[in-house]
Amino acid sequence: MSHEADKLESNAQAALRGVLTFSDLEKARVEFLGRSGHIAKRASQLGKLPEGERKSFGVAMNHAKQALEKLFAKKEQELLAAQDAELALVESIDVTEPPLPQLRAGHYHPLSIVEKELADVFTSMGFMVQDGPELESDYFNFEALNIPPDHPARDIQDTFYIKGHPDWVMRTHTSPVQIRAMQEYGAPLRTVVIGRVFRHEATDASHEHTFNQIEGLVVDRGISLAHLKGTLLVMLKKILGERVNIRLRPSYFPFVEPGVEIDVSCTICGGSGCRTCKFGGWIELLGAGMVHPHVLRAGGVDPAEYTGFAFGTGIERLTMLRYGIEDIRHFNESDLRFIEQFKS
Ligand code: FA5
Repeated sequence: MSHEADKLESNAQAALRGVLTFSDLEKARVEFLGRSGHIAKRASQLGKLPEGERKSFGVAMNHAKQALEKLFAKKEQELLAAQDAELALVESIDVTEPPLPQLRAGHYHPLSIVEKELADVFTSMGFMVQDGPELESDYFNFEALNIPPDHPARDIQDTFYIKGHPDWVMRTHTSPVQIRAMQEYGAPLRTVVIGRVFRHEATDASHEHTFNQIEGLVVDRGISLAHLKGTLLVMLKKILGERVNIRLRPSYFPFVEPGVEIDVSCTICGGSGCRTCKFGGWIELLGAGMVHPHVLRAGGVDPAEYTGFAFGTGIERLTMLRYGIEDIRHFNESDLRFIEQFKS
């Protein structure tokens, strides 16, 4: 009988030599020590043996079982030790290794810096911040803003139309959101719209075909041009500095009456005259005015009860003035030598 136990032990040793993983070990354990394993199968034959052999058979099988359990426990310890050694190798820190090259941290694009500040200053004055769709209907982009199909003002904004869809345009300004906002929220209302606009025009140092605008709209009882001027001064002082000054000149936009063009004192020369302001001391920056009664009506607001002011300006132009950037095309060139100058 001890011969049989020895054989089981040497078979188990041979099997364990091929064991490399914990799952191999478990398979081998089931094969030898499991409920239907070699030991259990042999032990089940105890009853078939003659009375006199049973005791020694039982003892021998117990010894064999204990011996196998020891072998399996030892193998498990070996696997654990190997796993620890491998982990130690992977997780070890080599203090003599040279440091990694300095990682470049990202930061805001100059346009995003100005957009964030604009949103902050207007939110602090109780305005909502909206965006609105870039693909806009002819109705919202033109007609509802008092610009009918044959109106000469359509020439001011060279428009990208959508092939096969004459009623849709890439919005040429953020003003259509004036109508959307009034229709959605009614009066009284204070909102700014920040977003991309598109114009079919040649690019140069101060013109892009795709650029960003901020639009402001306030509708309430008793709103006047004085409110417009005060609001714009708060915004411009925040973005361009406390010393900035503005002036209003009469101008024409079909969606406001009266309409004004607003100039800011040149941030480069402080108003004394330089190349940037073409030696005039002032730079044209914004279109604005009192919301036209037709536009209020298109927004569902009664012009007999409410008045409003609106303004719109290019965020690129504002950012150029703030940082003294001489060419609008730098914003989209993705040149890190330009962008990294705006790390805060
Ligand atoms: C408008 O777009 C009017 N919607 C603004 C407005 C709103 C007037 C509300 C009255 C009431 P204008 O076409 O002038 O107006 O453009 C407004 C501003 O966008 C300009 O002052 C300028 O800062 C900027 N801008 C215009 N064209 C370009 C361009 N091609 N590239 C970069 N900025 C531009």
